[in-house]
Amino acid sequence: MKFSKVLALVLAAMMLVAVFAACGEKKDDNVIVMATSADFEPYEYYEKDEIVGIDVEIMEAVCEKLGMTLQIEDMSFDSVIGAAQTGKADIAMSGITITEDRKNMVNFTTPYTSTTQSIIVVKDGDIAKKADLEGKKIGVQLNTTGDSQITEEFGDDYTDRFQNGALAVESLKAGKIDCVVIDGEVAKSLVAANEGLEIIADAYSIEEYAIALAKDNTQLLDKINGALEELLADGTIDAIMDKYIEE
Ligand code: ARG
Repeated sequence: MKFSKVLALVLAAMMLVAVFAACGEKKDDNVIVMATSADFEPYEYYEKDEIVGIDVEIMEAVCEKLGMTLQIEDMSFDSVIGAAQTGKADIAMSGITITEDRKNMVNFTTPYTSTTQSIIVVKDGDIAKKADLEGKKIGVQLNTTGDSQITEEFGDDYTDRFQNGALAVESLKAGKIDCVVIDGEVAKSLVAANEGLEIIADAYSIEEYAIALAKDNTQLLDKINGALEELLADGTIDAIMDKYIEE
């Protein structure tokens, strides 16, 4: 056999190996990779070294209906939506609020719950209602709807952005900021875990949570919507909420 023929055979064999290797890396169709930021009790947070919470349980129930398995990838909140958008993850589920801006980047499922942006203050301070926020230094979690809404209303000078809610609350307790605006149930968890804080009666805003998927992933979107609608109708989602949220 001529050397060039041998070379061609070897090259062909190498290409085959490469193709098989690539197939091996191909995403398992039965696994849903969920991007989340597990800093958000009661929706997603660590219990020892396991990520638990409302979002995790809802998605596990969805996967069970679809005969799929769930794989969770923890990252900072400001990477979560991008991970779904670029296909690095199949879905982003992280207490994500539906907004018009985000709808330009991803598709959203049917909303699975609604909530508020709440205002956390030091007890008996001088913020008692929403109107008192004027001129105050307000802590928010980076790239959240709290961040965009507060920045839009009060400007950069009055907005202090933190990697997560716990760090914002530390800053509030240290007297460096005047309040924290964050999702209602998360605010309740933070107040329960920290002495001397309270949530004022006025909510800052009201919003709805949904799961985000890449624009081209409409097949999975339809499947998840089908499962979600059943779980909403048969009370499963309510039961999961009740397990984590006391009224
Ligand atoms: N609901 C807010 C938003 O969509 C905050 C979500 C933050 N989630 C988290 N896991 N840290 O922007």
